[in-house]
This record gives sequence, structure tokens and C-alpha cells, in this order.
Amino acid sequence: MNCSVGIIGFGRMAQALILPLIEKGKLKPEDLFAVVGSQESVLDLHGKLPEGLRLVDSQAHNASEVWLAPLQLLAVKPQQLDMVAASSGRTSLDRLSEKPILISLLAGVRLDRLEQLFPHHLCVRAIPNTPALVGEGLTGFSWSKKVNVKQRRHVKEFFSEISELFDIPESQMDAFLALASSGPAYIALIAEALADGAVAAGLPRSLAIGIAYRTISGTTSLLREKKLHPGQLKDMVASPGGTTIAGIRKLEQAGLRSALIEAIVATAQRSSQMS
Ligand SMILES: NC(=O)c1ccc[n+]([C@@H]2O[C@H](COP(=O)([O-])OP(=O)(O)OC[C@H]3O[C@@H](n4cnc5c(N)ncnc54)[C@H](OP(=O)(O)O)[C@@H]3O)[C@@H](O)[C@H]2O)c1
Repeated sequence: MNCSVGIIGFGRMAQALILPLIEKGKLKPEDLFAVVGSQESVLDLHGKLPEGLRLVDSQAHNASEVWLAPLQLLAVKPQQLDMVAASSGRTSLDRLSEKPILISLLAGVRLDRLEQLFPHHLCVRAIPNTPALVGEGLTGFSWSKKVNVKQRRHVKEFFSEISELFDIPESQMDAFLALASSGPAYIALIAEALADGAVAAGLPRSLAIGIAYRTISGTTSLLREKKLHPGQLKDMVASPGGTTIAGIRKLEQAGLRSALIEAIVATAQRSSQMS
């Protein structure tokens, strides 16, 4: 990849995307310029980041240079958006020969708001998820109509190394976020609870957590590779009067399925409210 990338907000999500790309040699640290909110973060990240990556805080004299990069990743919290947009507005972007592409990772901030706040940019919403850290992410995109096919390809090239890509109508972005982006937290919770159950039943903790991970990843591989419906797999495992159906009965009594459905709906609603 041969481009210079500006990063506005270099917290957990931006690092989850950028660091694997550097490790894979797809981005060169010296092509990156990142801005964070505070000098403490600069000091904290100093030494943890690859050599050559330029990092400054938003008050630094050269922080506005970030707005001149042809490709920009916006990864601040939604409540920091207005301040960041004001900083972009103070930079003379109207003189650039080509509009920079702004990839926003912000949950619940819609394209029309981005276009209003960043009138000299071409705006894209991208919702990635944290498994990108190990090259197994998912990224959903919603595009401004002004972004042409070549520019879309360029943005996708950036994410394709670490995630599977999906074009999502913006009306479905909250649902996509709820499942793909918040989902890892829910799966982690399930893995922890399964391991706790195994410990309660007598398995050593060190073994239990590893077995829980392998059970989850093996099950999803089986479902995908054999193209099984989840119900089919459940029926394959649950023999009449057996152990699994006894466990399923407990899960149904406790409302596991309903709890998960409601969690995804609540997440999507929260994302929608935030916009
Ligand atoms: N975490 C996820 O799984 C996930 C998934 C999908 C989307 N997202 C979205 O990604 C965005 C970032 O989330 P996160 O979890 O990475 O948050 P985070 O770890 O808190 O990172 C936010 C970053 O923004 C910086 N920042 C604050 N004010 C700034 C300013 N004025 N100029 C430039 N940088 C500034 C912060 O620096 P300081 O720490 O120094 O203030 C920090 O580096 C959110 O909008 C979220 O909706 C997150």
C-alpha cells in the first residue's frame, strides 16, 4: 500500500486496525501521522508504537497536518467529534487538488452529519470489529454518494488485509454494529461463563478457559464449513434423554436466547440514539 494516512484518535480501535497492517508490512510507520487528545497519551504510547510513526497531541503546532493526508481515519469518541471537526475547519482544505477521504469509525454518527462537519472531505463510515487484531475482523461500509468506485476500492484495500468486507445500507448499520462490533464482548462473556461452569463442575481453570475457546471456534468452523443451520447442529448433539438436552432445558428456562436477542436489539437502539 503506497499512501500516507492521517489518524485522528489513536486509541483501541485505531490501533487494532493500524498495528496489524504495519506488522504485515502493508503500511509503513513513516507514512503515518497520528493525533491524540493529550500529551499523556503521546508519552504513554511512546515506545509502544513502531519506530518512525509520528504521533502528536491535538495542541501540537503541527497537529493540523493530519488533515492534509489523502486518506484519514477518524477514530475519536463521538463526544469528541465537534472539537475535532472545528480543528479540521481551521485548516485550509479547500486549496487541496483532491478532496481527502475521511473514514469514520464512529458508532452512531451518520453520513449526513459527517458531510456537514467535514464539507471538504469525501466521507465513509466504516464499522470494524476487534478481531481485526488477529486478521479475522469484519468491516461494514456505508459510503457517501460522492465517493467513486476507484476511491471505494482504495479504502477497501486498506481494510481487506485484516477483515472481511461488507457494503451495508446506512439504515442497517446500527444492526451490523450491534452484531459484529459489540458481538465480540458478548461472545467473550459467554466463553467466560462456560469456563466458570466447567470449573464449578470440577475442571481446572487453566484447562476450562482454553476448552471454552476451542469449543466456540470449533463449533463456528463446523457450522460454516458444513453449511449447517444452528438448529441442525443442536439436534445432532442433543440425543433423547441425554446430557445436552438437560443443559438446553436449563438455558431455555433462564432465557438465554431471549437475552441475546434483546442484547443485540438494545445495542442497535443505543447506536441509533447516539446519532
Ligand atoms: N472499540 C471498539 O470495538 C469499536 C468498534 C467499532 C467502532 N468503534 C468506534 O471507534 C471510536 C474510537 O473508539 P475507541 O474504543 O478506540 O476509543 P479510545 O480508545 O478512547 O480512543 C479515542 C482516541 O481519540 C483521541 N482523542 C481524544 N480527543 C482528541 C482530539 N481532540 N484530537 C485527536 N484525538 C483525540 C484519544 O486520545 P486521548 O486518550 O489522549 O484523549 C484516543 O487516542 C469510537 O467512536 C467508537 O464508536 C469502536
